[in-house]
Amino acid sequence: ASTTATSVSISGDISSQLHAGYSHPLTRSWQAERQLTKEMLIFPLFITDNPDEQTPIPSLPNQYRFGINRLVPFLSPLIRKGLRSVILFGVPLHPSAKDALGTAADDPAGPVISAIRLLRARFPNLYINTDVCLCEYTSHGHCGILREDGSLDNAQSVDRISDVALAYAVAGAHCVAPSDMNDGRVRAIKLKLIEAGLAHRVLLMSYSAKFSGCLYGPFRDAAGSCPSFGDRKCYQLPPGGRGLARRAIQRDMNEGADIIMVKPASQYLDIIRDAKDLAQDMPVAAYQVSGEFAMIHAGAKAGVFDLKAMAFESTEGILRAGAGIVVSYFTPEFLDWL
Ligand code: PBG
Ligand code: ZN
Repeated sequence: ASTTATSVSISGDISSQLHAGYSHPLTRSWQAERQLTKEMLIFPLFITDNPDEQTPIPSLPNQYRFGINRLVPFLSPLIRKGLRSVILFGVPLHPSAKDALGTAADDPAGPVISAIRLLRARFPNLYINTDVCLCEYTSHGHCGILREDGSLDNAQSVDRISDVALAYAVAGAHCVAPSDMNDGRVRAIKLKLIEAGLAHRVLLMSYSAKFSGCLYGPFRDAAGSCPSFGDRKCYQLPPGGRGLARRAIQRDMNEGADIIMVKPASQYLDIIRDAKDLAQDMPVAAYQVSGEFAMIHAGAKAGVFDLKAMAFESTEGILRAGAGIVVSYFTPEFLDWL
């Protein structure tokens, strides 16, 4: 009764045996380079100029447009659960709020600047990012100032957008995040921050590789920022443009960006990996945009998969691709799930 049961036949290479490495929940977690944590999440907030409003956004499940008076009650429980960071989007609803220059973007009494001041005062540990763009504030809905032929006037747009970024920084934003895609805006913003003595404490997160396409629809509903004519294909990147994305990332690194963002996320995982390779010494962020979020909700509702399982799977894919920061509409749920 000594040696009968110990013979092992190994037909393949010994390295074929993988299951032991992930046979336990803990060892499964060890297989990921990065685990999702609450610190990685940035929650988008839509803020209107109607102080008492809290309106659900039909195309974005569980998301609202908030008036300034609704922010503190809404955010307090989330902060208790570990919310660390938000990104603010202004949604002017007053009919007179929009003009050709996007004047309302840096209105000192407008929703974004009021929200920055309020949130800084009420939630000292909340990190406040501000989206910087003009499309919510321009009468034509494009992300800058237009020439007569309807194309973006790059010089004027950059000048205006860097002024808006500076106004948010002066008001107390921790981070300014230009999403307009005008050439050279990162450099212009960085120079104005330096000149104002704010560059040491205001971070510049560039939407560097922002692709055009159909995944921003629910956001444009929420923000009322659909262009009144044409589209954004002449400034947001073409979906096949991997080389262009790499050039835009490199350009923004050279212009002084502190964080590189890729957007959308799940359709552009290769670009997230490119960003992590090109900007290895910088944090890389990915924005799981409104259309991705709405799609996951629609799939779950149709019984294709479980909402929570897909929220995790999609976010883990984004982390695996190379992101260390995720802008996510699932943030409130993740605060419960993590
Ligand atoms: C503004 C902006 C947009 C998004 C972020 N900033 C809309 C757009 O470019 O049309 C999209 C975010 C989302 O879809 O969740 N330029
Ligand atoms: Zn825009």
